[in-house]
This record gives sequence, C-alpha cells and structure tokens, in this order.
Amino acid sequence: SSNQMWGGRFAAGPDAIMEAINASIGYDQRMAAQDIAGSRAHAAMLAATGIVSDSDAAAIREGLLTVLSEIEGGTFEFSTALEDIHMNVEARLKDLIGEPAGRLHTARSRNDQVATDFKLWVRDQMDAAISGIEALMRALLGQAEAGADWVMPGFTHLQVAQPVTWGHHMMAYVEMLGRDLSRFRDARARMNESPLGAAALAGTSFPINRHMTAEALGFDRPAANSLDAVADRDFALEFLSCASICAMHLSRFAEELVIWSSAQFRFVKMSDKWSTGSSIMPQKRNPDAAELIRAKIGRIFGANVALMTVMKGLPLAYSKDMQEDKEQVFDAADNLMLALAAMAGMVGDMTANRPALAEAAGSGFSTATDLADWLVRALNLPFRDAHHVTGSLVALAEGKGCDLPELSLDDMQAVHAGITAAVFDVLGVDNSVASRVSYGGTAPVQVRAQITRWKEVLG
Ligand code: ARG
Repeated sequence: SSNQMWGGRFAAGPDAIMEAINASIGYDQRMAAQDIAGSRAHAAMLAATGIVSDSDAAAIREGLLTVLSEIEGGTFEFSTALEDIHMNVEARLKDLIGEPAGRLHTARSRNDQVATDFKLWVRDQMDAAISGIEALMRALLGQAEAGADWVMPGFTHLQVAQPVTWGHHMMAYVEMLGRDLSRFRDARARMNESPLGAAALAGTSFPINRHMTAEALGFDRPAANSLDAVADRDFALEFLSCASICAMHLSRFAEELVIWSSAQFRFVKMSDKWSTGSSIMPQKRNPDAAELIRAKIGRIFGANVALMTVMKGLPLAYSKDMQEDKEQVFDAADNLMLALAAMAGMVGDMTANRPALAEAAGSGFSTATDLADWLVRALNLPFRDAHHVTGSLVALAEGKGCDLPELSLDDMQAVHAGITAAVFDVLGVDNSVASRVSYGGTAPVQVRAQITRWKEVLG
C-alpha cells in the first residue's frame, strides 16, 4: 500500500530496497526529543496565530508528550515504512488523538522540521563538548598545580631541547583546549537561528510567527532566508571542524602519554583504573585508553570530510543527500565525548614520576642554551660566538661520556679561557627553568600565574 503521509498520488508502495535506502528511522530516532519539542512549539504558535484551534493545539501538545514518554519508556514501535522520526511521531500522534494530529503539519515541511531537530541536537552536543573540555582542563590544572616546579625535558623534534616544568607542559594543553572551548562557543552562538517556519523552502502563506517558535526553542532569532534555512548544514560542519581540531589536540596528548608511560621514558604511571594488561605478558601495563583516543580521532576527521563531501555539490535547497548528515555527526559526537571523558579520567588519575622527569631533564645537554646565554652575559660574547664555544663544550662532554655540569673548570677553560666557576650555577636544571621568567616562559612563577588566570576563567 502507498505511504500514509505522502501516498496520495501513488498507486503502489515503494520497493523494499527503496524503503531500505530511504529510511533514516534506524538512527534519527535519536532526535525524538528534539522533534517533539519542535512540534510542540509549532503547535502552540499555530494556536496563538489562530491557524488551528486552541483545543486542537492542546490535544496535539498533550498527545506529543505521550508519544515522548512511549519513546523514552522503550514501548514505542518504530516503523521503517514511516521512513523517519518525523513521520513516526506524527503517525503515532494520529493513533492517539485522531483528526487534530493532521493539523500539526500546517505551515511546515519535513525540511524545516529536520533542520530544526538537528540544530537542537547539535546545539546540545556543543554544550556537552564545552563541559567535557572544561572537565579535562580542570584535570590538567590539577596536574599543573601539583608539579608547577617539577623539571622535565622539553623537546623539539622529540630531541631534548631545554628543561621545562611539568606544570608548563600541562598548561600548554590548557591553552589548546581553551581555544577549543572558544571555537565551540563561537560556533554555538552563530548556529542559534531557527529554521522552523521556512517550510519546504519558500516560506508559507499562513500567518505564522517565526519569532515565537524561535524563542520557545531557545533560538536567538529566526533564520532570515527560507532557502538557506532548509539548505544549511554549516552548523553540523562547524561542530565537526571544532571537534576535529579538539580531537587533534587530544590525539597529540594521547601520543605523548603513550610515549611517557613506556619503560624507556617512565615519565608517568597510569592508574590501574586506566591501564590494561596483556593476556600473555604478565608484566604489561598498556595505555589502551590513550591509544584508543588517538585512534578514534580518525572517525571524527572522517565525519568532517564525509559531510563536506555530501554538501559540496548540492543545489539549493533541500536534497535527500542531506539525510546522510546525521550518522556522521552522531558518531563523531559520541566519540568526542568519550575521548574527552577518558582523557579527563586518565589525566586526573595519572602520577608523574618526578625523579625520572628530573633525571631526564638534565640529560641530552639540555642546559647548553643556558651556558651560551651565560657566555653572552658574563663574558659579553656575541651570541653566535657563544653558541660556537658551547658547541665545542658539548662535543667535549660527549667525547668524555659525561654531561655539561660534570666537565671540570679546566676542561672548560681549555675551550674558552674566560670561563669562571660561576658558570656551574646555570648548568643545573632547576636554575635553568627558574631563570626563564619571560611572560609565558617555563619559570614556576610564570606557570603559577597562568594557573591562577585559568582557574579564574573556569570559575
Ligand atoms: N529524513 C529526512 C532527513 O533526514 C527528513 C527530511 C525529508 N524531507 C523530504 N522532503 N523528503 O533529511
């Protein structure tokens, strides 16, 4: 038989495969609450504007609450023949309240309906991402506060570069996540215009009030162009691109945690709650959560590319291609929230190995730059000459198999006669980090100032 919602002009129903490729109910049922909220706002507006009677609107609004409780209670029977969440809800409403249900779709189309539902869903996920990021930032701040003055190697090219502090390294991620926060907030503010009332694409001849439905659904205003309102998926793409950048940050940190928890580094120990064992090698403590965070990011990037690709060739206004937006965003959102929560749990629970960090901080001639800077300050050498002298001292130490502080004053003076015993003060890693007091530098005093600032920002 033909479709009860749109079958008027059809003699036969769709082929089973047509139905299979067309149906979105398998996944868009996740937007049931948003669909019902949108319909309830629409019904209230239809009554306020005199387009439907108060009693019909009241029956619709009440009936929709029953539908919602059936869905939430798990007793609702979703039908593939009814394609999507919109028609499933409306068909059930008809079973429940009869004739008034048919008046709900006045001055509306599934095109503005789905855009509204999906926007409401994505808006909630923007909020969830914001809270998830804030929770992770708090976990990082906790680590930074505990170890604001713990020395560790700073790396460039993954080669030891200069000593930094544990707190400084943690706070670098706080900065990155702070930009993620601001991107999600920015995207949320931009997306908050209501498509409802754009109808199929051209607006409607009914005297609707789009400001009223926009306000009821927490939108700042109605979208100003009905064609754009039903054709726009920028909000989903912005969610995915904000999510991609945030996920990239999580993946970089995950990569560091994998390296740091190895037996060769021993910089951190994950708690038992955040480690896994091997079924064959009893000694193993694997950082699986970090590895999975690093891997899940691929799905988020994939979703971003997939939806960009879906959208890029579509003429205005709505095309059914756009039904492919949801699964990508659902999957990306689920995995971003999981990755944020796992990272926050892992970071909150991990223990930095302070002695191992300190030992590594002094290795690899990490204070060579301090030595060169000292030659500039104490002996007034041009930096390029100081760099050269220091390079010779590093080569000398390397040849002797020792680090810079272990060279004797005689060794040093053989390379440059002006060097005095005062040089040894700058070769220690604690002095090195304490000296880097420039704004944003690694000195504990600077790191603590940034911790204080972020704690105020996060409240
Ligand atoms: N299930 C559809 C979607 O997800 C709803 C909109 C359908 N509109 C239409 N004119 N067929 O996009």
